[in-house]
Amino acid sequence: MSTPPDTPPPAAEPFAPERYFDERVAARYDDGIRMSCPGYDSLHTMLVPLLQLLPTQARVLSAGAGTGAEILALAPRFPGWTFVAIDVAPAMLEVCRRRLAAAGVADGRVEYFCGRVADYPEGAHFDAATSIFVGHFIPGPAAKGRYFRSITTRLKPGAPLVVADLFGAKESAEFLELIRPWLAYYISHGTTREKLANDLDLILRDMDFMPEADILSLLRQAGLVAPLRFFQNFLFGGWIGQTPSPPPAPALPESGYPFSRVDS
Ligand SMILES: C[S@@+](CC[C@H](N)C(=O)[O-])C[C@H]1O[C@@H](n2cnc3c(N)ncnc32)[C@H](O)[C@@H]1O
Repeated sequence: MSTPPDTPPPAAEPFAPERYFDERVAARYDDGIRMSCPGYDSLHTMLVPLLQLLPTQARVLSAGAGTGAEILALAPRFPGWTFVAIDVAPAMLEVCRRRLAAAGVADGRVEYFCGRVADYPEGAHFDAATSIFVGHFIPGPAAKGRYFRSITTRLKPGAPLVVADLFGAKESAEFLELIRPWLAYYISHGTTREKLANDLDLILRDMDFMPEADILSLLRQAGLVAPLRFFQNFLFGGWIGQTPSPPPAPALPESGYPFSRVDS
């Protein structure tokens, strides 16, 4: 029986990172991301100066850890820090584990958690968190806001969160201005036409681009103070903000004991 002409086409399967980032994608991820994101290594290198004021024994959350680039950038520079690598895709987490072992990052310094950040035990565990190229996979402001909040509610007071994602308003002149050289960069790295077509389809259909003002607003609503852009290349942006600091402890007056003396 043929389909009646007014039957709508079947809806596309919603994008599911745990399915998309399978063994095949995980094995190619580290080469592929560098073909599509020109400043990928610089972005991760920038984590070092951005986070260097953390305590020497800091515990850091890598949300959407993927193949471990954030931990690989930080662990050798800050030997007292420990990390929790959270990712929904088991194949990505497996590559992460192998790469960290090959880099000599001791297993005892990294806890691996397969799932969403919201599934991780609640509590202010972390001195800092990173979420690099994760938020743009989460569709819509409500879900994205919940995702950012699942991170900020696990941070200690005064802890920084570094976020990087694709951004922009898809119909804006700026978007069109930047997507052309971005694709030219992609092609210049030997990407086949077929891969370009597939990736472009994924980017335009499944990536949740948001104007910067909306991302900043979501980060503020998630509890970050004064989030600030520190990075941009083409349509990739990076922002840092921190949870509110605890109020300073009341200072003792210089004369010493704060209560008036009672002479006997
Ligand atoms: C593009 S990779 C980025 C990996 C790494 N952060 C980097 O900088 O290369 C995105 C990763 O986020 C994971 N991911 C997507 N949505 C997630 C979610 N809601 N919670 C945890 N991980 C998620 C995916 O499985 C994938 O491994």
